Amino acid sequence: MSRPRILVTRKLPGDVEARAARDYDALLNTGDRLLNRDDIVARAQGADGLLVTVTDRIDAALLAALPVSIRIVSTFSVGYDHIDIPAATARGIAVTNTPDVLTGATAEIALLLMLGAARGATSAISTLHNGAWNKWSPTGMLGIELSGKRLGILGFGRIGRATAARARAFGMEIHYHSRHRVAPELEEGAFYHADSASLFRVSDVLSVHCASTPETRGLVNRDTLALLPPNAIIVNTARGDIVDDEALIEALASRRIAAAGLDVFNNEPNFHPGYLALSNAFLLPHLGSATLETRNAMGFRALDNLDAFFAGKTPPDRVNK
Ligand code: DGY
Repeated sequence: MSRPRILVTRKLPGDVEARAARDYDALLNTGDRLLNRDDIVARAQGADGLLVTVTDRIDAALLAALPVSIRIVSTFSVGYDHIDIPAATARGIAVTNTPDVLTGATAEIALLLMLGAARGATSAISTLHNGAWNKWSPTGMLGIELSGKRLGILGFGRIGRATAARARAFGMEIHYHSRHRVAPELEEGAFYHADSASLFRVSDVLSVHCASTPETRGLVNRDTLALLPPNAIIVNTARGDIVDDEALIEALASRRIAAAGLDVFNNEPNFHPGYLALSNAFLLPHLGSATLETRNAMGFRALDNLDAFFAGKTPPDRVNK
């Protein structure tokens, strides 16, 4: 029996590509050239499935232009806001993601952002690089201590809870808002806020962990930032479009918000240049899941979903019906 043909849109870790090539007639992207819509459609001719990433915009127009042979889109990511799910469902295309396997790596980056923002790492590092560190100072470069502060987690799913677990070790008090209150064993003493405004009001540090949906886009905006206590810190490892950039940049520039730690941005990689002018913004280029262990696990999970689908089973991480 011939092996299913899959189009892999980005270069993936070696072990993942080796397994894909072993089990599939896999069209790999070893040069890692970013494929536009026309490239994807052209390369997908004769394929049965796509293995895509967050850099591929799988919108309704692309889905409509794909050959009818494509029956599954497996994304190498937990987030799937880059895929038009209703359009895929309407075309009978299964969509899968890679939950669980990047939880720990992303929670670690959230803690790095929290610490980097709280301790003024951006200006401290540039002081060193610019040769401007001329003396230790009892009163200079003073940051904010996380210990004893209230951490507000916006979105208490796997990554939010893993971040909470790590923050408890720093002595932080955990608060959260989610659409639904979680079971006490998952809450582990965290305080639930039924509405997001109530969470903003108590968050000395607000860490964003919700998915990008029509309800959450722009949720961190002028009005909600104004609810935060003085000297608050914002951390975002989820999606850039949950934050209104103009509002956050204004709040950081005026020091109404003490600092921000951001790993994700609107319109990546062409993010708002205003962030670069802010010494209280600690920025990373979407590194949440960027460890080899995690990227391998994501690739294997994306392949597990394809394997199940082509074996006639329901893929474990199918996100549409
Ligand atoms: C995801 O998986 O959604 C991340 O943003 C990329 O690792």
